Order: sequence, then C-alpha cells, then structure tokens
Amino acid sequence: MDGNGNSETPELTGARTRRIGILTAGGDAPGMNAAIRAVVRSAAVAGIEVIGFRRGYEGLIRDLAEPLSGRSVANMIQRGGTFLETSRSPEFRTPAARGLAARNLRRHLIEALIVVGGEGSMNGATVFAGETGIPIFVIPASIDNDIPGTDYSIGFDTAVNTALEAIDRIRDTAFAYERVFCVEVMGRDSGFIAIAVALGGGAEAVIVPEIPFSLDDICDRVEDSHRRGKRSTIVVVSEGPRTGGVIPVAEALTNRLGMQARVVVLGHVQRGGAPTARDRLLASRMGAGAVKAVLDGAGSSLIGEERGAIVRVPLVEVSSQRRPLDPSLIELVHQLST
Ligand code: F6P
Repeated sequence: MDGNGNSETPELTGARTRRIGILTAGGDAPGMNAAIRAVVRSAAVAGIEVIGFRRGYEGLIRDLAEPLSGRSVANMIQRGGTFLETSRSPEFRTPAARGLAARNLRRHLIEALIVVGGEGSMNGATVFAGETGIPIFVIPASIDNDIPGTDYSIGFDTAVNTALEAIDRIRDTAFAYERVFCVEVMGRDSGFIAIAVALGGGAEAVIVPEIPFSLDDICDRVEDSHRRGKRSTIVVVSEGPRTGGVIPVAEALTNRLGMQARVVVLGHVQRGGAPTARDRLLASRMGAGAVKAVLDGAGSSLIGEERGAIVRVPLVEVSSQRRPLDPSLIELVHQLST
C-alpha cells in the first residue's frame, strides 16, 4: 500500500471484466512464466477466467486458445522460456490478420488482453487496441531492457547475470594468459545489456549500436591499457549489423597488437535459464499490476516499474518511442578500467 492508499494487490472490488486473454510474444525472456503465473493467480483471486493463447500473436490469429487455471501455472515461477511459447508474427502487421485475431477474442468473450513481450509486441498491441477498442495491458519482457515507460523489463537482470558469469570466467583465463578477448552479447538494436555487462565485468571497452565508434579508438584504448601494465583485456560488443559484431573488432585488434584477439559469442545462452530473484519479483508484481489495471477498468497501458513502483503508462504515450541509452555510461566503463 503506498501513501495514496493504492495497493499493488488486486482486490475483489470494481471487477467488471470476467474473462481475459494472455499471450507471450517476440523474443522470450526469463521471467515470462512468472508473469503468466502472477496474472493467472491474481485473476483467479478476483474470480476472472484466463484464456492463454499459444505462440504469441500467431496463436491469436489461429485461435490456439486454452483455459489457464491456478494449477496450469504450478511449478512455473523458476522456469526460463515461456510455456505458452512465442513467435515473431509478421502476419499480425496486416489488418486482415488482426481482424481474425479480434474475431477470436470476441468469440471467447475476452474483454481485455495481457501481452507479455518487448518493444515490437507493444507496438503491435497499440495498433490492435486502437482498432478493436479492447483494452490491452503490456507487461514489458525483453532481455534488451529497451522498452520505454519502464526502468526495467523482465529478463534483463537474468541475461546480464548470465553474461557476467561468462565474463568472469573469461577474465580468469585472459589474465592467466595475458590475452585480449572480444565478447559479443545480445542486443541487436540496443546496448543496455552490453553496458551493464561491461560495467559489471570491468571491461576495458564497449561497443553499442546506439553510439558511433571507431575501431582505431578501441585499438588505441587497448594498447594504452597494455602500456599501463594491464594483463588482460575484455572488449564487450553488442551483436548485429549496427556494430558489425565481434569479428571486425577482433581482427582490428589482432592486426594492431600482433597477438591474436580471442572471440566469444555468448548468443542465446543469455536468453535461457532460471530467472533471477529480481526478475521473479518484477514479473510477479507486474502480473498482479496488470490484473489490477483490468479490475480498475483502466485504458490500454504498459505496466511498468518506475523508481521501484508499479505504474501504468498509456500505450499511445510509449508506443514507437525509443528508450535512450545514457552515453556517459560508456565513459564510466573507460574511467573504471584504468
Ligand atoms: O530482442 C531480444 C533479442 O534476444 C535481442 O537481444 C537479439 O538481438 C535478438 O532478440 C535475437 O533474435 P533472434 O532470437 O530472433 O535471433
């Protein structure tokens, strides 16, 4: 309960919607199962039925519906991935497919939809909510943490911890052998994972998609750190076409330093695994927050976390926006690796 008498726990009062739908869409993220569990059980407390749609928006179009009970989400809070399965659905971008999806929702008498997913899923939800008038509540889940309107999205903490564990191991061997490692992390369009991993792992340099970089500068920095007597070097690079990935960086360093820079691509290892405590708590609170939004008769919104509190942000305010990366964090990586 906060100072205004608001509680994060759904109450039985004000219930208007009797059946809601839920789906997970886009890239899976550890903690999605915990979010589904929180939605299903909070809804059960309020006497609301929940219909799950398998395989994201594709399941909505094809009516891959199944009722979810408190027992269907047993033994789920600690599991990575999503038991509802997910997909990226280009088809949902077409009005015809969205028409089929709307028809299925109405046929099941679903009065509100909860979408657990990332930025693309939120943009799709905004269009769909506008067309159908059905309220949609988006629970932000993406290891990339690039969703505007929330300080954290479900899965980011787990992905960063998984990558950090790998970096710590790499540091051991890098130090022992006096080697340079270039480590590629996920985040095709956003560098939040890379920055967090670089800061948390004490990397010597970091390359992210949002901020222009020069390979010469990276080489200068690594050479300089060797002159200062550092025995090991780790350069963290976000994957994808905007950075060019880890290979050109390793080649540039190998040419300049005359010693072969080693390459590690962490890849989808970062997307799986049991969610951390932080992600389970976030997912549980956001799931309950989404059901409370349904009970309150709120308009379509993102259920975010801002400064530790669960908040609702109208979808139209955050849709198609980008969450900006703080460029000063790159300087901090450099400063702390001296
Ligand atoms: O959006 C989440 C994410 O894991 C990004 O970090 C990554 O760049 C992308 O998805 C990978 O997509 P896919 O699993 O389709 O290869």
